[in-house]
Amino acid sequence: MHVTSVVGARPQFIKLAAVAAALDRAGITHSIIHTGQHYDTNMSDVFFDELAIPVADVNLDVGSGSHAVQTGAMLPGLEDHFQRLSPDWVLTYGDTNSTIAAALAAVKIHLPTAHLEAGLRSFNRRMPEEHNRVLTDHASDLLLAPSDVAVENLGHEGLAERTVHVGDVMVDIALLVQRALDPDAPALPDGVDGVDGYVLATIHRAETTDEPERLAATLAALQAMPVPVVLPAHPRLRARAAEHGLALERDSLHVVDPLPYRAMVAAVTGARAVVTDSGGLQKEAFVLGTPCTTVRTETEWTETVDLGWNVLVRTTAELVDLPAIVLRRPPPPTDDAPYGRGDAADRVAEVLASGP
Ligand code: UD1
Repeated sequence: MHVTSVVGARPQFIKLAAVAAALDRAGITHSIIHTGQHYDTNMSDVFFDELAIPVADVNLDVGSGSHAVQTGAMLPGLEDHFQRLSPDWVLTYGDTNSTIAAALAAVKIHLPTAHLEAGLRSFNRRMPEEHNRVLTDHASDLLLAPSDVAVENLGHEGLAERTVHVGDVMVDIALLVQRALDPDAPALPDGVDGVDGYVLATIHRAETTDEPERLAATLAALQAMPVPVVLPAHPRLRARAAEHGLALERDSLHVVDPLPYRAMVAAVTGARAVVTDSGGLQKEAFVLGTPCTTVRTETEWTETVDLGWNVLVRTTAELVDLPAIVLRRPPPPTDDAPYGRGDAADRVAEVLASGP
């Protein structure tokens, strides 16, 4: 049995860490293609190093570009390497341009294709990720769903027969890393003072960064928080803020470089609250036990909202109330584990091992 994983962006490297270890435990041959969508050291290499992910067999080095340029640039290289490797499964991850490119290249040459994190839906057709995930699900032969809601979504789209509920591999890695944290180590990078409580924020999604008014209001709300806000800045945020003439570092807002995974888990675990427009971080905050506020119009991880651990701030007008919403009374602890308890990657290996 030979599985080829295709990854390209930061959250995919984290999921790959869990999957690579599980495939190894199961004795499955595993090759890795990195598309090069993310290429900065602190967006890519650092995750391979610290999460002990085997070095990618191939890097396509596609880099940045418009959606069409970036996705298109991946296709010929993926097809060549798929033909050369001829795996039993091509495994795609999540919802990025690397995901859709891999699914498209694989199915056209009749390679069995499995999609990890299948069935998530925002039902927001303005999001590039929504098209990537819907199209990847419909193209793929095996849909590895992280939650009951994802299974239901796939059923509604007529995909129940190809669906297997495995849980979420990001939970595996988040819990593993959290358990290994040094309780005496500082939760925040050098030079950032959060001893009396801080908020951890991330902002990178195009819907926030590319709308000057929305971005200005989001930054102003973070800057007005009554406690320090630590924001590891995605390169897209720095670039767009500079373009729109918006200052990042002001009042309560402290901007740092993107954090490696262990530092991120430590920072989330130690925070009073998280504010984000990321998909993955909403769920990581829940799993790590930190209340989250999501500055988006919808979420794919609806269980986090239903259980009281995540509140959506949908409109730009609502952002003036952000400090009160973020620092609300924390929800009661829950034993619910809608995304599994940390064994999803072994389940993935088991399902893949049973063959296409
Ligand atoms: C991508 C995914 C998104 C995921 C996110 C995680 C798509 C459509 N979106 O968004 O689902 O949540 O990754 O981070 O695939 N850049 C750098 N250095 C890097 C990477 C990016 O400077 O290493 C800059 C470039 O200017 C680039 C911009 O960031 O144009 C955006 O990068 P891109 O890969 O297009 O998408 P993300 O916003 O990272």
